[in-house]
Amino acid sequence: MKNSFYLLIASFAVISACKTTKETSTTTTTNTTEVKADCGSAAYSYAADIKPIFNQNCNGCHGPVKLRGALDFTIDEVLYAQAKSGKLVCAIRQEKGCAAMPAYNPKLPDETIKKIECWVNSGMAQ
Ligand code: HEC
Repeated sequence: MKNSFYLLIASFAVISACKTTKETSTTTTTNTTEVKADCGSAAYSYAADIKPIFNQNCNGCHGPVKLRGALDFTIDEVLYAQAKSGKLVCAIRQEKGCAAMPAYNPKLPDETIKKIECWVNSGMAQ
């Protein structure tokens, strides 16, 4: 009897833990990488800072010509959706759970990764 009481408490704890996780994941748009970049007061914009990085490093494979991974980053909605889902930062940081990018090329320099990450975390200004 005592055991089933503990079991009941334990299952309740598991259920509420799941509920909490679900709630936070639907309400937050920031990425969930373990270590966040220290962005300070840096403010980046898509047009001035991010687009040139993508044109140079990504859009040769992720554009209208080569639609690798079915992702065309010259379309803003596509890029923003990948950023919001956390896939973008995951890919350039080459973490587990996503494809390491840029494919077949050296990892982006730390400063560039940080720039993209800070842009994503600060709300992706145009
Ligand atoms: C040489 C070609 C190539 C280059 C350059 C490249 N990618 Fe990719 N990318 C791919 C391919 C192929 C896939 C699909 C891989 C897969 O699903 O395993 C992909 C998938 C992705 C994904 C989805 C990952 C996932 O797990 O869902 C993201 C995000 C991404 N690329 C971002 C980038 C970014 C950002 C850059 C530039 C820094 C970049 N890629 C450069 C070929 C490339």
